[in-house]
Amino acid sequence: MGVCGYFAVSRKCLVVLSLRLLFLLPAGLPVRSQGDSQSDNKVMDNITVRQGETVFLRCSQGDVVTHTAWLNRSSILYAGEDKWSVDPRVSLVVLNEEEFTIKIENVDISDEGQYICAVQTRSRPRTTSVHVIVQVPPKIINLSKDIAVNEGSNVTLMCFANGKPEPTVTWKLLSSTGLVSEDEYLEIPSITRQRAGTYECTAINEVSTDVQTVELTVNYPPSVTEGRDVGVTLGQTGVLQCEADAVPAADFEWYRDDRRLFNDLDSIEIEDNGKISTLTFYNVSEVDYGNYTCVAINKLGSANTSMVLYEVIEPTSSTLLQALSSTTEKTVFTEEMTTSLLDMTTSVIEKTASTDYAIWGGPGAVQDGNSGTMGTHTSTCLLIIIGLQFLLKF
Ligand SMILES: *[C@@H]1O[C@H](CO)[C@@H](O)[C@H](O)[C@H]1NC(C)=O
Ligand SMILES: *[C@@H]1O[C@H](CO)[C@@H](O)[C@H](O)[C@H]1NC(C)=O
Ligand SMILES: *[C@@H]1O[C@H](CO)[C@@H](O)[C@H](O)[C@H]1NC(C)=O
Ligand SMILES: *[C@@H]1O[C@H](CO)[C@@H](O)[C@H](O)[C@H]1NC(C)=O
Ligand SMILES: *[C@@H]1O[C@H](CO)[C@@H](O)[C@H](O)[C@H]1NC(C)=O
Ligand SMILES: *[C@@H]1O[C@H](CO)[C@@H](O)[C@H](O)[C@H]1NC(C)=O
Ligand SMILES: *[C@@H]1O[C@H](CO)[C@@H](O)[C@H](O)[C@H]1NC(C)=O
Repeated sequence: MGVCGYFAVSRKCLVVLSLRLLFLLPAGLPVRSQGDSQSDNKVMDNITVRQGETVFLRCSQGDVVTHTAWLNRSSILYAGEDKWSVDPRVSLVVLNEEEFTIKIENVDISDEGQYICAVQTRSRPRTTSVHVIVQVPPKIINLSKDIAVNEGSNVTLMCFANGKPEPTVTWKLLSSTGLVSEDEYLEIPSITRQRAGTYECTAINEVSTDVQTVELTVNYPPSVTEGRDVGVTLGQTGVLQCEADAVPAADFEWYRDDRRLFNDLDSIEIEDNGKISTLTFYNVSEVDYGNYTCVAINKLGSANTSMVLYEVIEPTSSTLLQALSSTTEKTVFTEEMTTSLLDMTTSVIEKTASTDYAIWGGPGAVQDGNSGTMGTHTSTCLLIIIGLQFLLKF
């Protein structure tokens, strides 16, 4: 037993011990260790297998083989045709003079490691070892929940994944192009409404990819589009519209001056449709004309805008009367203007007469070297006279 000793019980020693027991080697027969010229220890290429698949362990034999076994670490799976393993996933595929093959179905991570095929010939033992590597597809195991935050908050999203080999984790915002983060953590300081949306976490390794999404909502107070005044003819339908941008969506309130308006199916209807609220007047009457205020409210604040519902006159028989009455007003106004114009004209004429007789003078006046001034005065007078005649027609 000098080879192994009692204390240094390495894996190799365990294997050799197992084999000794198994093959009932005569105690006196020396067991060669690795490097011994008479033994033959071969290392095969690693076998890579995906979790859940089946792996075949193949080992060549020979006509001089007396005993043969497949071992998982130090425990015997198969000794010749005898199954020692209690694991139902392990089974014999082939055992003949050429090869000794077993298979492990539904491979799991715990199956990863070294497997040894030990062969005893009449002259010497021979081992062949193979390393089984089990790959696992990535799986996202800890992901941030969908969240809603207020604009300006600092946001951290996280995405943890496992898998073999270790997966690479990245984040991106679906509505924009390009990566946002190449890390498990995605930090967004002082978030803006533009960065709201669906964030996608991707975990990828050689085997496959796992993708999950997180919905990030950014709340902000309402802002309203400036209201547009609306002109409506009496008896027609008038619609005032109010548009608000807000998250969560705004609730709307309509006011006429300080009085809140509610649905009154006979005359008005308030209808909210997401971002837009409409105030509809069926059959607009005189009292409906006025100034209306729309207030948009959510939990973060409010905003308002005012608009006027004003009258539009159509040339119907009733509106013609109104048109006539307003013409009368215009006439009164014109007469007042005429009076003041007359006063002004009189003073201009008086002034002109006192400074320049040439205006009223005969042909000799043309030669007095002041024709330019005379021409101006003449045309001014003519204009005033024409204007007066025109105005006095009313
Ligand atoms: C086999 O896998 C082991 C463990 O992963 C590694 O150390 C070794 O380099 C691999 N050998 C080959 C030949 O790939
Ligand atoms: C191999 O040994 C490991 C460790 O004892 C065990 O977890 C695994 O299930 C074994 N695999 C097979 C196929 O026997
Ligand atoms: C996910 O991560 C958070 C924060 O690190 C931790 O509190 C939580 O226990 C984790 N959940 C799971 C299922 O691992
Ligand atoms: C966000 O982070 C910055 C810098 O770390 C800090 O100064 C600020 O107070 C944080 N804001 C909030 C709302 O926590
Ligand atoms: C509209 O209102 C006027 C007066 O308020 C009423 O006479 C008329 O019948 C109404 N028209 C309709 C279609 O309701
Ligand atoms: C309408 O009412 C609002 C709020 O009372 C006021 O600010 C606005 O000037 C008013 N508009 C008109 C045209 O009177
Ligand atoms: C409308 O908004 C102004 C400020 O923009 C505010 O002073 C006013 O009180 C608001 N009016 C209503 C009815 O909410």
